[in-house]
Amino acid sequence: MEHLIDLNNPEQLRKGDPGQMLEALAGLPQQCREAVKLARAKEISFPQTFQHVVVTGLGGSAIGGDFLRVYAGQKSRVPVMVNRDYQLPLFAGEHTLVLAVSYSGNTEETLSAYEDAKAKGAALVALTSGGKLAEKAQKDGVPLIIIPAGLQPRAATGYLFIPSLIVLEKLGLVPPVTSDLEDMIETLEKMGQKLSIDIDETKNPAKQLAKLFYHKIPVIWGVSGTTETTAMRWKGQINENSKALAYFNVLPELNHNEIVGTEAPEKLLKEVELVFLRTEDDHPRVQKRFDITKEIIGDRVSGVTEIWGEGKSLLARMFSLTYLGDYTSAYLALLYGIDPSPVHLITLLKNKLAEV
Ligand code: F6R
Repeated sequence: MEHLIDLNNPEQLRKGDPGQMLEALAGLPQQCREAVKLARAKEISFPQTFQHVVVTGLGGSAIGGDFLRVYAGQKSRVPVMVNRDYQLPLFAGEHTLVLAVSYSGNTEETLSAYEDAKAKGAALVALTSGGKLAEKAQKDGVPLIIIPAGLQPRAATGYLFIPSLIVLEKLGLVPPVTSDLEDMIETLEKMGQKLSIDIDETKNPAKQLAKLFYHKIPVIWGVSGTTETTAMRWKGQINENSKALAYFNVLPELNHNEIVGTEAPEKLLKEVELVFLRTEDDHPRVQKRFDITKEIIGDRVSGVTEIWGEGKSLLARMFSLTYLGDYTSAYLALLYGIDPSPVHLITLLKNKLAEV
């Protein structure tokens, strides 16, 4: 299939990316370092103990909560849940920590959930670049972490995830996070050198994957408790950056349903590029499941690519895979001749809703 752009031509790549998504991606490790600094500088304490943590947000602002949920699943005795709604669940109350996260600060569902948290007597922390959420938090004396504006929310994952993690550490809800964060950021720095626009396609796995996904349907399979959020992120980034269809699911659950759905429609299945996101943190039986799954359904789809997370910690592995998916989605956008940054349909929908 003919491509509209040469992935080995950085000049063409820059021209096709006026919103500078690739530049924002190159800046992710540095963004993470700044996020650590600004969150560490913030004083946060509450008199009560917490039984649950709820991160409330949508889209690019909610996914940081999902990374936090996966991390906390392995490191915290307190459950973390992500709320993508106007209201909080009924259990939220005095012993619930609610992190209200909105990059713009103007997402109506998040502002409504913030009010609901107040009404339910929960402890609030707000994380935003400004907008109405910052105004409300200032007025209410709610601890407010301000992050730099000017990025697409989905390009601000460092700013949206790391402060939430550090808030949990400050409140004693996770053990010290410094060494995991250092491992994660160093791994991102190393990965950045392989994925950047100047690296030739023959040595750049993101450019190779973008070529593989071109005019195909990417289906990303991760694992519950390790790469589930990463798999969801790949799908979301292909949707929002490449403006293309993609799906995700997780093992072991998909071994109990989705694998059966690989017999029909045969023609469409031949357009599916399956990706397995794997880490050494996956349960040994899940490792076996990946191998057997590939053996029994691998030839029903266009292809299966297995990718292993890099780094020493689960955090580094989750984010190394995420970084690869982010870059892949931006290169795929450029192959389609699409500007990765704007999300016109989200803006249109928000504007129409504001009118009613
Ligand atoms: C746009 C994006 C969206 C937004 C979502 C919520 O890049 O990723 O998914 O994150 O519409 O808006 P914010 O993040 O401003 O609360």
